[in-house]
Amino acid sequence: MPELRRRTLLSAIGVTATAGAVVTSQSSTASALSGGRGASYEGKVRDLLSRMTLEEKLGQLQQLPWSWDLNPGSGSTKEVEDAARAGRLGSVLSIFGAKTTNALQRLAVEESRLGIPLLFGLDVIHGFWTNFPIPLAQAASFDPEVTRTDAAVSAKEARSNGVHWTFSPMMDVTHEPRWGRIAEGSGEDPYLTARFAAAKVKGYQGSGYGAKETLAACAKHFVAYGGAEGGRDYNTVDVSESRLRNLYLPPFKAALDAGVATVMASFNTISGVPAHGNAHTLTDVLKKEWDFDGFVVSDWTGVQELIAHGFAEDGADAARLALNAGVDMEMTSTNLLTNGKQLLRSGTITQRRIDDAVTRVLRLKYALGLFDDPYVDESAAITEPSPDARRAARAAGSRSMVLLKNDGDVLPLKKSVNSLALVGPFADSADLLGTWVVPASAERFPAVKVLDAVREAAPDAKVTYARGVDPEGKDTGGIAEAVAVAKAADVTVVVVGEPAAMSGEASARSDISLPGDQEKLIAAVAGTGKPFVVVLVGGRPLTIGDWLDSAPAVLLAWHPGTEAGHALADVLFGEVNPGGKLPVSFPRTVGQIPIHYNHESTGRPFDANNKFTSKYLDLPPTPQFPFGFGLSYTTFELGTPTASRGSVRARALRSGDTVEVSVPVRNTGSRKGDEVVQLYVHDVAASITQPVRRLRGFERVTLDAGASTTVSFRLGADDLGFWTNDPSGRFLLEEGTFELFVGTASTAGARLTLKVT
Ligand code: BGC
Repeated sequence: MPELRRRTLLSAIGVTATAGAVVTSQSSTASALSGGRGASYEGKVRDLLSRMTLEEKLGQLQQLPWSWDLNPGSGSTKEVEDAARAGRLGSVLSIFGAKTTNALQRLAVEESRLGIPLLFGLDVIHGFWTNFPIPLAQAASFDPEVTRTDAAVSAKEARSNGVHWTFSPMMDVTHEPRWGRIAEGSGEDPYLTARFAAAKVKGYQGSGYGAKETLAACAKHFVAYGGAEGGRDYNTVDVSESRLRNLYLPPFKAALDAGVATVMASFNTISGVPAHGNAHTLTDVLKKEWDFDGFVVSDWTGVQELIAHGFAEDGADAARLALNAGVDMEMTSTNLLTNGKQLLRSGTITQRRIDDAVTRVLRLKYALGLFDDPYVDESAAITEPSPDARRAARAAGSRSMVLLKNDGDVLPLKKSVNSLALVGPFADSADLLGTWVVPASAERFPAVKVLDAVREAAPDAKVTYARGVDPEGKDTGGIAEAVAVAKAADVTVVVVGEPAAMSGEASARSDISLPGDQEKLIAAVAGTGKPFVVVLVGGRPLTIGDWLDSAPAVLLAWHPGTEAGHALADVLFGEVNPGGKLPVSFPRTVGQIPIHYNHESTGRPFDANNKFTSKYLDLPPTPQFPFGFGLSYTTFELGTPTASRGSVRARALRSGDTVEVSVPVRNTGSRKGDEVVQLYVHDVAASITQPVRRLRGFERVTLDAGASTTVSFRLGADDLGFWTNDPSGRFLLEEGTFELFVGTASTAGARLTLKVT
């Protein structure tokens, strides 16, 4: 949950340098959603621009923070109101509420000289009133429809409360489970992340903003933020052009292709150049190569932080560098607003670039219909999660859970069980919403607790509870009581894990095991000799200690959102058969990090019989649980995969030809369930070493007991080629042998060979 942050104002000192590039003309690839350069209001944008003073233009490029839900007129918001009246403000963030936004909007529309409406932004990350599971959990569903639904529900709720724009989806691929922000993204894989990014953009933006049930989306954080060294937030990233393009950029391209309205710059450096001052990524790639005609917003004080990075001399220099690199709107800090005039006078920024940035901002305001109707209907504001929204969040919650272990079919529990004990710090806790929740939603609509939901689901069972340890694992005084209730019950559910505050922004951990002494609770329950299940909640992969051997069943629930308890009870009692898969590898220990399935091969790949191969002496080479892994209450069998042909011409692939890969899948167990069929490719020899496997297809299927189906994927040039180190962007499809792996995890064994000639 974001803390209330105060904005910092900078004074101006001018510094000279070269002016930045403006991206002009070219035919627009922007979606019909944002309107883009070909939109009907383009003439109006030009006309308005011609009537604006420099101060008003700089004002449009400024975003200031509100204070989540303080009402107008209170001291801390006076500055924002004054700026709105003066026409010196383009956007406000951390604001919502039909009344609040209307009142502020009125100042801009009715009292400023040109009456340009404000754009209201908010971090609606996985819910507004109705919180869905955290994004990482959603990725575990391997079902982009889950995230599209979250976005559509969130958009409807937020827009009715005056919000126009969400700072989501976050699409930072990462190989760093220590990084707290792993919770906000889709894990370690660019393809999975891209599919989720596109689906979420579509969910927010719908088929147009006109219906007022949509939000403009923001692809963030551009780019490579997930590469933070050591997983420490905001840390340095040094990355080759090929890795940038193969690993970090694909989700952003997918979001752009889905029509995303805006992009947010990231806090990190990219090979020495901070993302906020990076003309290569912001202008050369995003605006020129990809022809993006939306706008780039800085992250919170990201422009000002160019000084701390050691990249800008002072505020004026920071403004110059950011604008010239391609940042269009400054969030929170006010360097451009304060120094723009002087920078222009000195020739270090250009009028054209300012006009370009303002044009981009105005385009979105027109596309959103704000010039026609800047207000929101106060009587139509959604004030609580609807039953439908709750149902959707509950389904998303259970669909995102991953069954990691289930020896002896301890799960699902029987509703007819006589007695059931719930123990652990999260069994009777509402701290299940996860990071990035609108504070008022947590206050008004706390998560359904597991204890309450279990009692509801098994009304005839005797359900007992003892906390055992606290969420931080510091106070173990309750373990004896937990052991007593476990002994007296037929079966025990131990709900342990991370509180929400341990993941998200600025929440890196160096030790990613269960916090404190939580493990002692598991050991004590195991000591009773009675059957038990461990439920893990949290926002990142955890290192699972020796307790794994003692636990018959482990279910990963993540932070499941508003309907947490219900979603979990659905899975525990088998109303829903778990079908989620890990979107990220679970390391055995922190010392193994980075460990991810899509690594490159060394010249000495692991060989157990050869010491001089790549490994740790004290660990197996594999993670605890691999990417793509997850069990079910039923079993599935995959048949032999086939390809529509064994060889294909590179030229044919380049002109759109594809190869079809199919595999039969059968539910061999005795209950209905879901399986995620996955396709991985490996380019055996390439001019740039390729990952040992790359996910290029997945499909989640539901099959009745005994039923079967055939899943097919199409592989084209995009799936088999790669980006080179050429900074101007070169995608190569090389001839040679490709291995294709089909299975139900990244360890898939079934292999096919494809020759590209
Ligand atoms: C985060 C962004 C967020 C912004 C606005 C920053 O600290 O990095 O992800 O959108 O704050 O709240």
